[in-house]
Amino acid sequence: MKHLKLDDGDMLPILGLGTWKSEPDEVYRAVKEAIRVGYRHVDCAAIYGNEAEVGRALQESFDEGVVDRDDVWITSKLWNDSHAREDVRPALEETLSNLRLEFLDLYLVHWPIAFEKGVGFPRSGDEILSLEERPLEETWAGMQATREAGLTRHIGVSNFSVPKLKTLNAADGRGPAVSQVELHPYLQQPGMLEYCDDAGIVVTAYSPLGSGDRPERLKDEDEPVLLEDPVIGEIAERHDATPAQVLIAWAIQRGTAVIPKSVNPGRIRENFEAAELELSDEDMEEIAGLDRHRRYIAGSGFARIEGSPYTVEGLWDE
Ligand code: A2P
Repeated sequence: MKHLKLDDGDMLPILGLGTWKSEPDEVYRAVKEAIRVGYRHVDCAAIYGNEAEVGRALQESFDEGVVDRDDVWITSKLWNDSHAREDVRPALEETLSNLRLEFLDLYLVHWPIAFEKGVGFPRSGDEILSLEERPLEETWAGMQATREAGLTRHIGVSNFSVPKLKTLNAADGRGPAVSQVELHPYLQQPGMLEYCDDAGIVVTAYSPLGSGDRPERLKDEDEPVLLEDPVIGEIAERHDATPAQVLIAWAIQRGTAVIPKSVNPGRIRENFEAAELELSDEDMEEIAGLDRHRRYIAGSGFARIEGSPYTVEGLWDE
């Protein structure tokens, strides 16, 4: 398994298991199976509502001697309702308790969006705070404090645009170690990769398979289905591989970490084996031509609520 070197020399396993949308009972089996197959990186978040079951699977895997804690990379994310500086540590402590861990390897600010405390998904604009009311620098200071306290080994962000990443780098000599964003052939984000490369930030690609199991309310009618793309299909055939494997191998070859979600044992293994697939320069060029800046996770749900201070354009600064 390849690794990516972080700002302090630590190594992030390039391929991890995603757990968004995995039902609690399914995620328990998925994490156990993934670790058994060889995954050494699991991507979690408090808002996924399944960290307790991930924690049970991790604990059993440690107790059964399948893997040691120090050999698995665990990421989790701070939800939008805990952006006040004093709320960050308790939120992380709850995640640690659910995951049955003493520390995380990586803790990410999930979104550059703030809610009132206790709000999972807001029903009205009154439950949403603007970035002026709850500046990201304040949240970042809370994140730094958790790293200093030894509750997480690294900190980073998710769903931050390059301009927002820059504000954190300016506020703090030591910026985010990782930027986790949606990345796949329809949303290649070359500017993000270039900026992060220069700034020494490792990039993780989420929704690498196009997130086809998102709730219907988060989908557009007639949206393109990445796993059915004919160019990806042809490349897969040439390599005697599957489209999902091509998408995962593409992410790895671009030097990004990648976290495909699956709860299916056959697909968990298939995705793991994608790390062995080598795409040619010609394959990579063909895939480069597929970019259409298509976000599947646009954050429009946060912007559409009446009275929300956020807009989709402002969220991504584009
Ligand atoms: P399942 O969990 O039943 O395997 P993303 O990582 O982009 O969010 O995509 C997750 C979606 O892709 C889920 O619907 C997942 O279903 C599906 N998926 C995961 N691995 C594969 C694969 N190898 N082939 C086809 N679909 C896959």
